[in-house]
Amino acid sequence: MADLINLAEWQRRASIVTPRAQCFIDGKFVDAASGKTFDDISPRDGHLIAKVAEGDVEDINRAVAAARRSFEAGVWSRMAPFERKKVMLRFVDLIREHTLELALLETLDVGKPISDSINVDIASCANNLQWFAECIDKTYGELAPVPYESLAMISREPMGVVGAVVPWNYPAIITSWKIGAGLAAGNSMVLKPAEQSPLSALLLAELASQAGLPDGVLNVVPGFGPTAGAALGLHMDVDKLAFTGSGEVGRYFMRYAAESNAKSVSLELGGKSPQVVLADVGDLEAAASAVAWGVFYNAGQTCHAGTRLIVDHRIQDDLLDAVCEVAKTLWPSDPYDPAGTMGTLVDESQTQRVMGYIEAGRNEGAEVRIGGERLNVTDGGCYIAPTVFSGVNNSMTIAREEIFGPVLVSIPVDGVDEAVRVANDSPFGLAASIWSRDISTAHKAAKALRAGTVWINTFDMGSITTPFGGFKQSGTGRDRSMHSLDGYTHLKTTWLQM
Ligand code: NAI
Ligand code: MG
Repeated sequence: MADLINLAEWQRRASIVTPRAQCFIDGKFVDAASGKTFDDISPRDGHLIAKVAEGDVEDINRAVAAARRSFEAGVWSRMAPFERKKVMLRFVDLIREHTLELALLETLDVGKPISDSINVDIASCANNLQWFAECIDKTYGELAPVPYESLAMISREPMGVVGAVVPWNYPAIITSWKIGAGLAAGNSMVLKPAEQSPLSALLLAELASQAGLPDGVLNVVPGFGPTAGAALGLHMDVDKLAFTGSGEVGRYFMRYAAESNAKSVSLELGGKSPQVVLADVGDLEAAASAVAWGVFYNAGQTCHAGTRLIVDHRIQDDLLDAVCEVAKTLWPSDPYDPAGTMGTLVDESQTQRVMGYIEAGRNEGAEVRIGGERLNVTDGGCYIAPTVFSGVNNSMTIAREEIFGPVLVSIPVDGVDEAVRVANDSPFGLAASIWSRDISTAHKAAKALRAGTVWINTFDMGSITTPFGGFKQSGTGRDRSMHSLDGYTHLKTTWLQM
């Protein structure tokens, strides 16, 4: 769809767009109670996209009150499942009708290539919501095997008011995971998008309302983390908080829960995912392509990005040469170029953070094989070249910390046992891959890898039908699949004695 519109036309559309920029509370767009706004800046050229309502404690209070009212009234939570499904499917239809508009907002906010925004982000957002919508009237409760004179029914009930605090790397997709499962389960919700990327969420809320979602069921409060985000985490009337973002802030949400009402918290906190390539890889070109795409897609700003290449020393040079060739095809371009494969990083501060890690890698003695520099594709833009470091050991900063930019580190190993040991030597455990032609070796390694997702002879395959989340410090709880509904429902036992 994107290639029907050329670069100049996208630039023109971007220059005239007037996004929704207020809080969406109780079915209406409203200013922040304080009247304050913050600047939403495009990472393509630093221009001001919009002044967005700066939600704070008072706005969160209003949104939670609206969510609570709608929940208690039962306008959504007690709507017949078939009817709830129809509303959500109308919402999906509206998202698909507004794909180009939503995609433009996503690219404006975070600088993703426009084709990815259309074909991946907004397409997945709609598909994910459709999948959860279709679950609504296909899930059943259970009867427990209890004594003959008893009947024990086990049912799932919505938790009540669910807060979601989401990041900027996949704004619409991560939002669809949280609101897809949360709304399908019958909750009312308050979403706080990241301050870098509030625009698609605000249009989504409007579309949901047009689709017939009752007022107060989905509220969106843009604003900053330490104010609006913390207020949601600390709120006494929020029953569950779903978070995706940094490990530091994830820990805050556990603390907020402890200091308030012991609300349930689910966390997806990123990683340092290993891509393990053994000497018997077989198709080296296929592995090189997967390794490069696995780390450079979305300019490396992906929680499960395969940032640590753990490769048998016998094939390291050949593989790295091939990875660098693929990297050259992923070079950054203007996000509005319909043929572009890499756009910008999300903002200036993230760009400087990533450049700081590249500097740290050089200082620690690692060698830059390709990239390592900031680029000026469009004036004032946040571009970093795909970067590959070799000569890395697993204790260097660039091998341990999440960089969240287009940076791959290559760590040579000798054989599968050392590969698995190095792969697991990380505080994170979100995802991993293993490349080997030997099915037993690959499968044994997959069992030994401590990660929520392990790919064999591929990387980054995924679907709404499979659970996604972390072992170790990568988080708790799961997004996607029917298992994610567990995180948005309470189990109720109803015992009837005859
Ligand atoms: P962050 O964790 O600070 O931001 C994520 C969300 O949390 C945003 O909505 C933000 O407003 C909110 N938030 C921030 N501080 C908060 C607080 N004190 N209380 C409540 N909510 C708060 O992530 P940030 O600063 O944007 O990025 C820093 C690093 O975090 C990245 O370099 C990356 O390593 C990691 N990250 C991981 C993501 C993932 O997908 N797992 C997504 C985004 C960032
Ligand atoms: Mg932060």
